[in-house]
Amino acid sequence: MILRVSRYRPGVDAEPVFQDYEVPDRDDWAILDALNHIKDTVDGTLSFRWSCRMGICGSCGMTVNGEPKLTCGTFLTDFTGPVTVEPLRGFAVIRDLVVDIDPFLANLSKVTPWLVREGEEPASEFAQTPEQLEAYKQYSMCINCMLCYSACPVYVLNPDFLGPAAIALAQRYNLDSRDMGDRFDVLSSEEGVWGCTFVGECTSACPKHVDPAEAIQRYKLTAALRSVLPFSRRRS
Ligand code: FES
Repeated sequence: MILRVSRYRPGVDAEPVFQDYEVPDRDDWAILDALNHIKDTVDGTLSFRWSCRMGICGSCGMTVNGEPKLTCGTFLTDFTGPVTVEPLRGFAVIRDLVVDIDPFLANLSKVTPWLVREGEEPASEFAQTPEQLEAYKQYSMCINCMLCYSACPVYVLNPDFLGPAAIALAQRYNLDSRDMGDRFDVLSSEEGVWGCTFVGECTSACPKHVDPAEAIQRYKLTAALRSVLPFSRRRS
């Protein structure tokens, strides 16, 4: 199997170039295993991120044959011909397959990503019913892999767009019965939910079956209601 890997050192190379590597055609290898094989036995300068190797840390996202994928969960057997591996689109390349995650983290921080409380705390712990947990649980499954941003045509064209994961994260707290925060200003801003054109690629790309497109459309309804009922505290 040939792995066609994008190599690039900004400031040194004029532009990215593809380099072909032959890797063993093993049924049990993910793309990440093949990249580690290259790094360990062929070219130690190849740069890429990974950590858990089990779809949890979210660090191994790359563009595989044109699609954003977790490389630890995408296998050589998923392909028949040469496999191209490029950095995630929509982000500046630091080196080879490593991209700058700072803009993504900055967007997450804009939505007040924690439980906001006002007034006195309860005497004991907050109990939630299974229904209350279910209301936000889906959004709490996000692993911040950035695949949804790379798949989003709006974010790729406009990096100021808040983006799918950040809006889903806001809904993770908005829909939590313990939260008393108000994220209306950031979510209903020009770069918030109204920037989304509902292509839905974010939801298709998510390896954890989070549905950011649904989160965005749902908050559009909230924001629209709030604009006609300005004193409404409805947050869902
Ligand atoms: Fe952690 Fe792939 S290495 S998600």
